[in-house]
Amino acid sequence: MDIVCSDKEKQVLEKIAKAATALDTPCYLIGGFVRDKIIGRPTKDADIVCMGDGIALAHKVAEMFKPKPQVAYFKNFGTAQIKLDDFEVEFVGARKESYRSHSRKPEVTPGTIEDDQNRRDFTINALAISLNKKDFGKLVDPFNGVRDIERKIIQTPLTPAQTFSDDPLRMMRAIRFAAQLRFTILPETFAAIGENAKRIKIVSQERITDELNKIMLCDRPSIGWDLLFKSGLLQLIFPQMVELHGAEYIDGKGHKDNFYHTLQVLDNIADKTSDLWLRWAALLHDIGKPATKKFEEGHGWTFHGHEVVGARMVPKIFTKLKLPLNEKMKLVQKLVLLHLRPISLTKENITDSAIRRLLFDAGEDIDELMMLCEADITSKNKLKVKRYLQNFELVRERLHEVEESDRIRNWQPPVTGEMIMQTFGLAPGKKVGIIKDAIREAILDGVIPNNYEAAYHFMLEKGKELHLQAVE
Ligand code: CTP
Repeated sequence: MDIVCSDKEKQVLEKIAKAATALDTPCYLIGGFVRDKIIGRPTKDADIVCMGDGIALAHKVAEMFKPKPQVAYFKNFGTAQIKLDDFEVEFVGARKESYRSHSRKPEVTPGTIEDDQNRRDFTINALAISLNKKDFGKLVDPFNGVRDIERKIIQTPLTPAQTFSDDPLRMMRAIRFAAQLRFTILPETFAAIGENAKRIKIVSQERITDELNKIMLCDRPSIGWDLLFKSGLLQLIFPQMVELHGAEYIDGKGHKDNFYHTLQVLDNIADKTSDLWLRWAALLHDIGKPATKKFEEGHGWTFHGHEVVGARMVPKIFTKLKLPLNEKMKLVQKLVLLHLRPISLTKENITDSAIRRLLFDAGEDIDELMMLCEADITSKNKLKVKRYLQNFELVRERLHEVEESDRIRNWQPPVTGEMIMQTFGLAPGKKVGIIKDAIREAILDGVIPNNYEAAYHFMLEKGKELHLQAVE
């Protein structure tokens, strides 16, 4: 099989072949590297499977490079890694048992290349290329993986039930590869995901979330989320998302299907940014809708306060999914909370004060918020879309103007709590807070400009109202 390798890759593969000959250990390139080379995608790490001791082979290979690279090895698992600049190679001995179970069970039975291929997840990932002297470069493809690549099909080498029971995460991997490569999961394989979905419960949350993040980073993440939904996995791993699905009708009045609306928003934002957290914000922006849904007589369906409820759900969802509970979570939460604000600024009410408040609340993240709001326009009505986009343009212009004159984006109080205490001889307490808040509100409302003098005078006025005396 002719695959196109870089000079660096060729050089490394030839050295591996030499080392394997010296140790009399047959070995093969296998897995994602082979798949991606055949597809023509960029490759990252290479996996080498050998009929013998993977760690010994890795050491032999390392000796052939100057300077000699470090060999990181895990004796219990029989695996070793060498990092050659940005090219990482992993070595493992072929096994008779499943790919994953060997990583938990130290005792393993050595196997042939066929045994190893049998226990891999998909036909497209079970392709091997010989690195042996007698047939260097020969493709070993017992399950027609190349044909499946050409047909763009994902299926398991053994029965799906067997392959998925070896490692239930493979059900999510099937969906992730379908989304990443835009391949179709063979109907029998997909049906087996539905039948075995419950087994996902034995998989660690970290591995599940890894797959979710990989789906999130696809060009069209909606493909993966929709397959998760249709397979029944989503109900088990992220039931709040499933709650968004469907449209209810009362008196002939329905609301939009918030699940598919959300997926559209996610794809829209994915067109604009590859930032994982903005994509999570898009996915979660309406997550509070099911909990706030009401049918109001004469009015129709409402979701009052869904942004507040949704923002409150964000930390809980991040905790459950083991996503980081750091500033990234805070960003997602903030965007969910504020996602209606720009759209509520219609032409009639874009006052300076509304703009200042938006700048104040969004702070550094105003551009990201505007991006989410634009992605949130999913109407099929072209005129409506045009109107919204024009309005956003106007909001953007005004944001720019107000920011130029008032510098609210990273607002720091021109008069600090410290200064208030000094001026009135106050100890820290409620009154200091009242004055501080009043100054901020006056600036945001445009009662006073955003500068020290104005804020200082305003503070003195406010102090008088509170019967405070300025000390010299
Ligand atoms: N593999 C498997 N079952 C798993 C995980 C991995 O059979 N649950 C096998 C597949 O042959 C896969 C190889 O191990 O090709 C390497 O796994 P991994 O690095 O996770 O995936 P890649 O296929 O390389 O793809 P990607 O790097 O995009 O995750």
